Amino acid sequence: MSGHPEVSRRTLLTGGAAAAALAGVGVWAASGPTPSFAHGDRGPGNGRHVLVGYDSAYGSTGDVAVAIADEFGAAGWRSEVRRVGEGIDLDRYQAAVLGAPVHRDAWKEEATAFLSGHADRLRQIPVALFLTSMSYGIDPDRARQDRAKRAILEQVARQAPSLTPIAMRPFGGFLDYGRMAPINGLVYRGFAGNDTSGDFRDFDAIRAWGADLAGQLRRKR
Ligand SMILES: Cc1cc2nc3c(=O)[nH]c(=O)nc-3n(C[C@H](O)[C@H](O)[C@H](O)COP(=O)(O)O)c2cc1C
Repeated sequence: MSGHPEVSRRTLLTGGAAAAALAGVGVWAASGPTPSFAHGDRGPGNGRHVLVGYDSAYGSTGDVAVAIADEFGAAGWRSEVRRVGEGIDLDRYQAAVLGAPVHRDAWKEEATAFLSGHADRLRQIPVALFLTSMSYGIDPDRARQDRAKRAILEQVARQAPSLTPIAMRPFGGFLDYGRMAPINGLVYRGFAGNDTSGDFRDFDAIRAWGADLAGQLRRKR
């Protein structure tokens, strides 16, 4: 890290130190503007059903879920975008793609709880996992980020012992201080600096991953 002092600082801060400090003082409990969370169905009704389930604090991971669901829909699947915690009945689906933002160097807690709570069903169907992260988007050391974020996803998979995801993929995330409660935005900015906000979601890569998954699963039918 010493070779990239500027990047190291930003990476460290967006990678969890700021968030951990904030969590320590409890400011994340304050609510901000109500984000809109994606939800909806795509594709023909006669295909197999795939769940694109996600968690999110500020909504942007839902856009990633929608882009993936669109690819499944285009490939003939019935794809359903649902936020975890919406009372999802996993028995309705023959495959699941699950994603969540990184919070404090871990998959967001509610998504992890969903995965471990539904471990029995998830072991019976193909499952793919993804995450969104600011440090993955910002840090130019792709190899380091890839290792770190894949380790987080591997840790997630271990929450459902014997679950073997067919794919695991980190993506850059999105952070807009304007979507946070003022106190959260202020404190996060204070720790991390202005340059840690932005949209680092690579929708070409996200769509390509979704299309590839849909293709893989079609061949398994
Ligand atoms: C409380 C909090 C903690 C975060 N912790 C991390 C982190 O440890 N590492 C990281 O790369 N990004 C971190 N982020 C950035 C988010 O992962 C990223 O902005 C994500 O795309 C947000 O998704 P959402 O809009 O669906 O909530 C954090 C964001 C928040 C709000």
